[in-house]
Amino acid sequence: MKTVDPTGIDAREFGDHALAEGETVVHSPQGEVLVLGHRATRDVVENPEQFSSAVSSHLQIPNGLDGEEHSRFRALIERYLTDEALAEFQPAFAAVARETVDQFEEQDSIDAVGELGAYYAVHAMLAWLNWPTTLAPRLIAWVISNGTANRSGDPQQAAGVAAEFDDIIREVVEPRLENPTGDVTSNLVHDQSLGRRLTFDEIVSILRNWTGGDLSSMAYCIGVILHGLAQQPAIQDRLRQGISAREFDAILDEFLRLDSPFVTNRRITTCPVTLAGNQLETGQRVRVVWTAANRDSAIVDKPESFDPEAHAEHNLVWGSGPHVCPGRGLSMLELRTIIGEILARAEVSLAGEGTREVYPTGGWRSLPVTLQKR
Ligand code: HEM
Repeated sequence: MKTVDPTGIDAREFGDHALAEGETVVHSPQGEVLVLGHRATRDVVENPEQFSSAVSSHLQIPNGLDGEEHSRFRALIERYLTDEALAEFQPAFAAVARETVDQFEEQDSIDAVGELGAYYAVHAMLAWLNWPTTLAPRLIAWVISNGTANRSGDPQQAAGVAAEFDDIIREVVEPRLENPTGDVTSNLVHDQSLGRRLTFDEIVSILRNWTGGDLSSMAYCIGVILHGLAQQPAIQDRLRQGISAREFDAILDEFLRLDSPFVTNRRITTCPVTLAGNQLETGQRVRVVWTAANRDSAIVDKPESFDPEAHAEHNLVWGSGPHVCPGRGLSMLELRTIIGEILARAEVSLAGEGTREVYPTGGWRSLPVTLQKR
């Protein structure tokens, strides 16, 4: 197995290059096995008995759990994320989308990620969880420092950013402990579906996973999609034609497959295992690289081409196996709403050169676009 250091490299280029050299798994200098091939990625994430998710000493619900315990917490959170549970938030997301476009249309150049994407992601999340909008500036500042900490690879910086987020969560959870407010946050605080109330640490962990990482993912997804739309005005027209939500989602999924902004997740082997012909020992740290697997020509026919129908079957943007993203429905509802609003009112075009993100994040760090009124 070759050793390759992805630090500071565009995740998409890193994956494409290694796969073109025939490397489906590589070693990182940090001692992890990086899994790039599509087949090997599925072998990892669809075999949780061999590849455990218990990779962190911190409580991570449900991401860091395995087996029965994972299933119980997974069932608990899925109830908040069904299509039926989410439908009531559509009008609130539509209002946030209108407000977002009101703010950013007709400007010569706006950053699709740091301005438009972050603004929409944060306000849609505040609406879903019923948190006060006065938290927005702090959350937007947090998205930015989280990106910086991820890029630095410095565990101390990452711990500081995580602690900052926990403070925000504490502020919204504490008042609801004694006084239920009937919203999503309060329902979680008072959830009894495990036969008991959740502990404070469990609530903080669940809310951290619902919000922390995913705020930035949502902003990055918006960047990738607006870039794709700016490059393909014919797809902008297609989306304006009142197509089904299914086709709309397939188009968004295909933009994300081509340039997956949510790059990697970790596992650890529970026993000796053979992966893509390589022998791994017990306790080997492993990282799947979704961005690479999504563009693996061994499985995905013509991975560089834009073909929503042909590529849907092999799309790994939302993961696979028992930890597959339970937030996909929420994310898609939010993305459909903002992209629908933008296209109803404006033509999307690029306003200059963007700056790419680097591993372990993907997509665009910043992308100047113009929303020209139609
Ligand atoms: C915005 C774009 C998003 C992308 C691209 C994304 C992608 C993913 C992926 C690839 C996984 C699999 C992780 C693994 O196998 O270890 C995952 C898991 C997860 N996602 Fe998302 N996600 C997004 C948004 C969200 C949102 C909005 C939520 C909020 C509710 C969410 C909640 C979760 C949770 C709780 C897990 C862990 C599931 C488990 O361990 O069973 N995600 N996500």
